[in-house]
Amino acid sequence: MAMVCLSDFEAYAKKYLPKFAWDFFAAGADECSTRDENILAYKRIRFRPRMLRDVSMLDTRTKILGTEISFPVGIAPTGFHQLAWPNGEKSTARAAKAMGTCYIASTYSTCSLEEIAAAAPGGFRWFQLYIHRNRAVSQHLVQQAETLGFQGLVLTADLPYTGKRRDDIRNGFRLPPHMKLKNLEGAFEVCEMIPFFHCLLDSSLTWDDIHWLRSLTHLPIIIKGILTKEDAELAVRHGAQGIIVSNHGGRQLDGVPATIDALGEVVEAVQDRVEVYLDGGIRKGSDVLKALALGAKCVFIGRPALWGLAYKGEEGLQDVLRILHEEFRLSMALAGCASVSEIGRHLVQFSKL
Ligand code: FNR
Repeated sequence: MAMVCLSDFEAYAKKYLPKFAWDFFAAGADECSTRDENILAYKRIRFRPRMLRDVSMLDTRTKILGTEISFPVGIAPTGFHQLAWPNGEKSTARAAKAMGTCYIASTYSTCSLEEIAAAAPGGFRWFQLYIHRNRAVSQHLVQQAETLGFQGLVLTADLPYTGKRRDDIRNGFRLPPHMKLKNLEGAFEVCEMIPFFHCLLDSSLTWDDIHWLRSLTHLPIIIKGILTKEDAELAVRHGAQGIIVSNHGGRQLDGVPATIDALGEVVEAVQDRVEVYLDGGIRKGSDVLKALALGAKCVFIGRPALWGLAYKGEEGLQDVLRILHEEFRLSMALAGCASVSEIGRHLVQFSKL
């Protein structure tokens, strides 16, 4: 089967993954309206392309927090990569390095941070943190990530509790016994089972806890899960160096807007004081172009990376990134942009349909 676009990888993953794993990856909260809206919202945005602008040489490179990436798409943090491919996050790390982009490794990885770092030495990685009730565990992970050369700390702010994902409940989702949450091994005995996350995560977190986090590490802190101008302002005031506009792929509060619709409000509030990124619903190179036109410095993919892994591990994820890169390059050219710095708000309009 020729893999031409990201939907081809989705179809493959749906066909070949065990049902419980597919359902876990695909899940949204409640009726999945936000999950689906993340994708539909892109279709309401139209381009205003410019012509005759010499696009014979195209440069898709950009920088995030000072580090160059080959194109403005990184890998969002998702848990349990061994459900998609036996080598799990080690394959993810290798693919991201090979494609010259950033991989945000999840707290809930099935490979340890050491294994991830060793799999792709020198790769550009950030570590995504969930803060647990046992703060010593979180402190250890943050300091370990810094020692292992992770270059940023992503604090996920939108998960005081896990959203209600109906299929996971129906399936009685839990990790197969041979898979472990390697970063938390020994710290908790029960954490293989999703519903227990309810009691592991610290749901009392507030903005003040960012000061505690700041005291633990020199790494830049990026807050993930921001959807409003009010929280964007608080993130900047509390010293975040980056914001990821995210609704967790529609897996948390069903009924929040698509991230591409929330992006403008956050970008306007932030006024270039920190970098703003986005995840949720990116499925085509033209989606990346729309997000950048509306002010994102870079976007991240969640589920499509898992589909790539499910297809052929490291190679499959490289295929996904390569296809997105090629589509992004073509969209840039057809819109009249020879480099990422030429992408701006003038390129898009919202459809009145
Ligand atoms: C996630 N997401 C997530 N986020 C996070 O901060 N830590 C995590 O461990 C996870 N785990 C996770 C697992 C799975 C299966 C999915 C689908 C998502 C959310 C993720 O980082 C990102 O916000 C969304 O996946 C982006 O939406 P798309 O690209 O999947 O549409």
